[in-house]
Amino acid sequence: MRCRSIVLACLASAATAVASHLTPLALLEAPRPGDALASPDGRQAVIAVAEHNVKRGSGGSSIWSVAVPAAGHGAAASKGAVEVVRNASAALWLSNTTLVTLRGATLYAKSSLRSNWADAGFKGVRIGALPVEPTSWRVLLHDHGATIVFSAAVYDDGDLRNVESYESSAEGQEWEHAKIYETTFVRHWDKWLRPGKRTQLFAIDLKKRGKGRKERWSLAGKERPLMKGTGLEAPVAPFGDEKDYSLGLAPDGTAYAAFTAKDPSVNPAWHTRQQIYTVPLAGTSQPQQISRGGLGATSSPAISPCGSKVAYLQMARDGFEADVRRVKVTTLASNETVTLLGAWDRSPAQVAWSADGHTLLVVVEEYEQEKLLSLPLAELFSPEAQAGETLVPLVRDGGVSSVQPLQDGRTLLTRSSLRGPTEVYTASAGEDPVQLTDFKGASRALAGVDLGPLPRRFNYVGMEGREAYGWTVPPPGYSEDKTYPLLTLIHGGPEGAWTNSWSTRWNPSVFAAAGFFVITLDPAGSTGFGQKYQEGILGAWSTRAFFDIRAGVRHILDTHPNLDPERVVAAGASFGGYMINLINGRNQDQLFKGLVCHDGVFSTLSTWYSTDELYFPEFEFGGVPWEARDAYLAASPEQYTDRWATPQLTIAGGKDFRLPESEGLSVFNVLQRRGVPSKLLYFPDENHWVMKPRNSLVWHREVLAWLLKYSNATAPAAGEDHAPAAAGLTFQ
Ligand SMILES: *[C@@H]1O[C@H](CO)[C@@H](O)[C@H](O)[C@H]1NC(C)=O
Ligand SMILES: *[C@@H]1O[C@H](CO)[C@@H](O)[C@H](O)[C@H]1NC(C)=O
Ligand SMILES: *[C@@H]1O[C@H](CO)[C@@H](O)[C@H](O)[C@H]1NC(C)=O
Ligand SMILES: *[C@@H]1O[C@H](CO)[C@@H](O)[C@H](O)[C@H]1NC(C)=O
Repeated sequence: MRCRSIVLACLASAATAVASHLTPLALLEAPRPGDALASPDGRQAVIAVAEHNVKRGSGGSSIWSVAVPAAGHGAAASKGAVEVVRNASAALWLSNTTLVTLRGATLYAKSSLRSNWADAGFKGVRIGALPVEPTSWRVLLHDHGATIVFSAAVYDDGDLRNVESYESSAEGQEWEHAKIYETTFVRHWDKWLRPGKRTQLFAIDLKKRGKGRKERWSLAGKERPLMKGTGLEAPVAPFGDEKDYSLGLAPDGTAYAAFTAKDPSVNPAWHTRQQIYTVPLAGTSQPQQISRGGLGATSSPAISPCGSKVAYLQMARDGFEADVRRVKVTTLASNETVTLLGAWDRSPAQVAWSADGHTLLVVVEEYEQEKLLSLPLAELFSPEAQAGETLVPLVRDGGVSSVQPLQDGRTLLTRSSLRGPTEVYTASAGEDPVQLTDFKGASRALAGVDLGPLPRRFNYVGMEGREAYGWTVPPPGYSEDKTYPLLTLIHGGPEGAWTNSWSTRWNPSVFAAAGFFVITLDPAGSTGFGQKYQEGILGAWSTRAFFDIRAGVRHILDTHPNLDPERVVAAGASFGGYMINLINGRNQDQLFKGLVCHDGVFSTLSTWYSTDELYFPEFEFGGVPWEARDAYLAASPEQYTDRWATPQLTIAGGKDFRLPESEGLSVFNVLQRRGVPSKLLYFPDENHWVMKPRNSLVWHREVLAWLLKYSNATAPAAGEDHAPAAAGLTFQ
């Protein structure tokens, strides 16, 4: 980014006079960095950065490299990333100086020792091709070269070369037009599932010749299926990726993988159960289950540096996707498993080993921050250690996404915040994280963008006198002497939270930039405040969470006299959309003047009957509909349609198999039949989320226009102190 940074330095000073605001277009065209990966010696790191040009409808991903300064050399040493490969979505290190990248199924090597390292147009030297484009990959380095482990979907024969020929055969083609099932779980998230087709892991070796500048790599032999004939699937759909498996060398030198997969003995539609397995990369024996005891989901397997142990996260309860995740460590030789942090009232999202194996690193959500903590393994089973009191904070705020321990004891990580997209950092105990990249500063889309005053966390009194939580996100140029409309954003889940992280969907700052004083609320059911607060939502969707939302709005109006109580609007997606539909039937005091429901529940009953993951409503409402009918009905927005009167925009997606489009159509029918001002926005090609940048632009245009209209606000005009909120909304 060095070259671009120089240009932007001038732009930024010119821009201070006419600060622009975060338009939807700027949000969508801002860089989207992924996870960072350090070279084995920790001296360089690479990161894939995706970018879109919305008007042109083009986009792609590049690999950027950044030097990791030696410990103690601070931030000033770096912040300069260079683009080294264009049009590649992932890169891995084959040595301290050679990267392997993928373009489709083809592998290329590129060396940082060569003069054309920073020539992004030169993609490198072709190594060979995998049989298909993988859905995820990792590499294990060893004495005689490297082994790539990758995932791809395959049928029971485990032969990747047969997938395309089968699917283009007459029998395979028939499925496109006539799908036949004998077991439910017929579709998931946004796909109809082909019976017998599963994503599985494969290993393939790479051979190295020469050293330094002369280093050359080639494929050695054919790929080996690691899960053939087992009925296992890894990574776990729909969101699984390479974090679902870990590679390592056992003390005897055996290369192996540890992975998480759904337990094949139970139906995945109504069970969350997953187990952890190990399998040798030689492909010589079947996977062995190493997890015991837990009946729920597992995640984040991590092989220890010496290869003798596997750490992972495990939930105790089957069917409850928001159960607390416990840290487990299995010693492979003795087949013994211990539970760490067993009395800690937090649910870690990721676990990793320090390079010396003496510490575990834990990423965890806590009070609306996604933190990085380290757990010394010296003294494990004291009550203090089990309760989490010996954890050492490495990163206390922001949203940590990927972590990689370095040999020197520091940790390489990626982190975003409400103030900007992901950047690469190093962290060590007792020091502030050191920022290595400045993708935000170098971004054309975000240059000179004024995000307004800092968002602030607040507490308030929710139902039953409990503490409840949220953020305020004031508009740019905010002044207590001016009046503003109030926008309330409600998150999905309900087990989720508004954290200090950057998002291209539901970014609060883009709503603030349109002139709203925004609050994001974390009512009962939200994550990061302890398991009791989170489980307070079970059977209480229409009571605790509903009350907490209204109490949060009241609290902000009471404490901010400059917010206009006649101009309050709300929007939410998924569970947030459920809450919008519920609010419409319980808004007799007209607290809310306008509503937006994105992919929300209309009827809790019809949701069970049509959704993909049955366990979810079953756990939330305490059973199947024919046993817990009253609990479903008590929570159902459909019960209150006789009182719907608040203007509402409703959004639905044709590929939304979580809350199918009939929920949105039902809502729109009710609103229209009752003569309530209403609009339907339907995306035939989108799932539960709006992912395509052009569609997202339309989404932002319609959502903002609706909220502005019903809060009697107009988008600030061009040239004023406020940026033109609508400027990014159309293709001119
Ligand atoms: C990387 O460099 C370190 C330190 O110079 C060395 O010990 C290590 O063997 C190298 N690793 C590889 C894979 O070349
Ligand atoms: C980018 O790579 C893909 C394969 O992954 C290829 O089909 C496409 O043509 C490439 N685009 C450019 C601009 O090189
Ligand atoms: C590990 O222990 C469990 C019982 O806890 C047993 O079922 C399993 O077979 C053992 N595995 C090995 C590899 O010894
Ligand atoms: C909103 O605008 C309408 C029409 O201009 C007006 O009748 C109404 O009083 C306004 N409400 C508020 C709260 O400003």
